[in-house]
Amino acid sequence: MTDSAPLPRPGAASRAPFGRRLCTTASSRDSGGYRVVSLVDREGPEPLPGQFYMLAAEDGWGAEDGRAFLPRAISVAETRVGAAGGGIRLDFLLDAVGPGTRALCDARAGEKIWITGPLGNSFASPREVAPGAAGAVLVGGGVGVAPLALLRRRFSERGVPHRVLLGFRDRAHSGGLDLFCGSSGALCPEVRLATEDGSQGVQGRVTDLLLSILAGDDAESGVVYSCGPPAMLEAVRALCADHGVACELALESPMACGFGACFGCAVPKPGGGYLRLCVDGPVLRGGQVGEVSHAYA
Ligand SMILES: Cc1cc2nc3c(=O)[nH]c(=O)nc-3n(C[C@H](O)[C@H](O)[C@H](O)COP(=O)(O)OP(=O)(O)OC[C@H]3O[C@@H](n4cnc5c(N)ncnc54)[C@H](O)[C@@H]3O)c2cc1C
Ligand code: FES
Repeated sequence: MTDSAPLPRPGAASRAPFGRRLCTTASSRDSGGYRVVSLVDREGPEPLPGQFYMLAAEDGWGAEDGRAFLPRAISVAETRVGAAGGGIRLDFLLDAVGPGTRALCDARAGEKIWITGPLGNSFASPREVAPGAAGAVLVGGGVGVAPLALLRRRFSERGVPHRVLLGFRDRAHSGGLDLFCGSSGALCPEVRLATEDGSQGVQGRVTDLLLSILAGDDAESGVVYSCGPPAMLEAVRALCADHGVACELALESPMACGFGACFGCAVPKPGGGYLRLCVDGPVLRGGQVGEVSHAYA
């Protein structure tokens, strides 16, 4: 594996402007059961892989009794600097699980969405996570593939050797897979798929693919980066711990403010105390995490 330069980390250059801002929806399209909503941000900095935004639709953002919803935390899945008319295009991969994500999925081109961000920390380069590690294995499941799409592109641009393992229920539920396609529209060659019914890639779970890599001779020369459902993240964390491989996990917890003020996102630390996932995360190293399923589900 070749050397890998440090990835930029959140700092002055990627700090969210104060307050929220209204962005125009550039497009909205289906993606394997999910929706990709693209906004044009004319004020904010370019986000880093792993960072997220708090989103709220301008219209219809509240219950029938008039109570307004809180904004919802959503990872940035892809960016394009120099979007039509200037600014940065931000792509979000959305799973409509409740009223907030449904309202965001319903936004059509021209409609407006409030955003705050980019927020939270970001993934580090393999060398920063584990001295001597130069390559990466990205492991994603479900809507958790979102932050890994941007990470994959950054690793490609920086020449960091990487493999991408993605898990889906079946072909019909492979949302976000198109975010891992090159300009030709074909799936990037480093991507391997697992589906539970075998309709795409190997039959089984994405962690089966990970296990076959971790069982290899040079597994410790890479770092695992993962995002997905809590049970998958816990399996990834445990596999990495068993094989002595460093990992970074992008976690979720309910968030109200997104910038450290409300403590709604607090998750327990293994040795006692709490982390605020919105400012201390959402990306945590394997050693900072207890059992994902119990602590964060
Ligand atoms: C840092 C971060 C990044 C995220 N990135 C994405 C993303 O890229 N795409 C995406 O679709 N979703 C993402 N989510 C999850 C998203 O924020 C929640 O699904 C959303 O807030 C649910 O709001 P709702 O009104 O649609 O549903 P609600 O009615 O609020 O919830 C519907 C169901 O989802 C559960 N739920 C709500 N919030 C969360 C949460 N944060 N984690 C786990 N379960 C939850 C509830 O318990 C309930 O069962 C992210 C969350 C975090 C914290
Ligand atoms: S969401 Fe408010 S402190 Fe983290």
